[in-house]
Amino acid sequence: MKILVTGGAGYIGSHTIIDIVENTNHEVVSIDNFSNSEPETFERIEQITGKRVKNYDIDLTAYNSLKELFFEKEGPIDGIIHFAALKAVGESVEKPVEYYHNNLNGMLNLLKCVQKYKVKHFIFSSSCTVYGNADMQPVTEETPTKLPESPYGYTKLIGENILRDFSKTKAGFSAISLRYFNPVGAHSSGLNGELPKGRPNNLVPIVTQYASGWIEDLTVYGDDYETRDGTAIRDYIHVMDIAHAHVLALEYLENQIESKPYEVFNLGTGIGVTVLEVLNSFIKATGMNLDYQIGKRRSGDVACIYANNSKARNSLHWDPKYTIDDAMLTAWQWQEQLNKAKHGDTVHL
Ligand SMILES: NC(=O)c1ccc[n+]([C@@H]2O[C@H](COP(=O)([O-])OP(=O)(O)OC[C@H]3O[C@@H](n4cnc5c(N)ncnc54)[C@H](O)[C@@H]3O)[C@@H](O)[C@H]2O)c1
Repeated sequence: MKILVTGGAGYIGSHTIIDIVENTNHEVVSIDNFSNSEPETFERIEQITGKRVKNYDIDLTAYNSLKELFFEKEGPIDGIIHFAALKAVGESVEKPVEYYHNNLNGMLNLLKCVQKYKVKHFIFSSSCTVYGNADMQPVTEETPTKLPESPYGYTKLIGENILRDFSKTKAGFSAISLRYFNPVGAHSSGLNGELPKGRPNNLVPIVTQYASGWIEDLTVYGDDYETRDGTAIRDYIHVMDIAHAHVLALEYLENQIESKPYEVFNLGTGIGVTVLEVLNSFIKATGMNLDYQIGKRRSGDVACIYANNSKARNSLHWDPKYTIDDAMLTAWQWQEQLNKAKHGDTVHL
């Protein structure tokens, strides 16, 4: 198949491209406007896989460019994996219009092209944020979604709804929303990992950048939750396990025996881990020490969420392999590459 990956220069998109190139015969092409990434990602992908993946620097919210500069040029596309989105929860509260515009218009423009150019398959990056503060743990795909706490969360819930409604109208089209829990870690080579522009928002890059002196504070938000050590519980899933789920989801869509136009899958390990356990895992994996401070709870943070992943295991034959310790070790190896590059050594980022 010929697969378009949107957001291919980003954290999860780049790891997914690596998995596609290494484990399938699919042809892959990317669209990324580098709003939260750098073109050098494609050099790193080439360093790891030996293959140069073509990227189009197009903003998905510009329909005419998407149509003329990508679909007209690239010819028939069999499937789209749609990662491209703005993803910082806090920033979305401050810039709701930017988030709704980018994430929803990007999605709508892609679906217009799906319609026009007869694309068969679509995989959407959703998030466990759609479950909100769920009454029961672990959450299954049947757990009711709740009204999100942020504009970002709304763009994921609305994105899912748009895709579900669209799927019902299109014969021969099938789609999947993958609800990621907390993606962490880096490629096992240590050569590719998470590198958002500006200060990171996710716990693991905050920890690795703090340990490297790039950022000055490490705050644990709340130690008075009703959890085993008082800190919030999340389901940290290795980015390479997430990446591989996309390869399996493509296979599933292509070989589907019963025709299900739209399905949702949880992508988590099924294990809840506290913030302090993550910090201890980092200390164990790296032998380094971490000084942190305890802050107040952040509004919108739930005490505990982790996945029931049986559906992805049974239907996609997905078998996540990596532990939180693996994730912390690879995230640190990636950070060490970044540190070398920052200090002018010859590592090319
Ligand atoms: N990382 C997480 O914690 C997490 C958790 C749940 C869901 N998700 C979702 O997974 C997807 C990928 O996340 P990520 O962590 O790789 O993010 P990322 O920011 O690293 O990657 C997203 C990429 O999309 C690009 N992009 C954004 N808007 C674009 C546009 N209009 N046109 C073209 N390119 C555009 C950015 O430049 C970036 O390279 C996102 O949809 C995100 O919401 C991420």
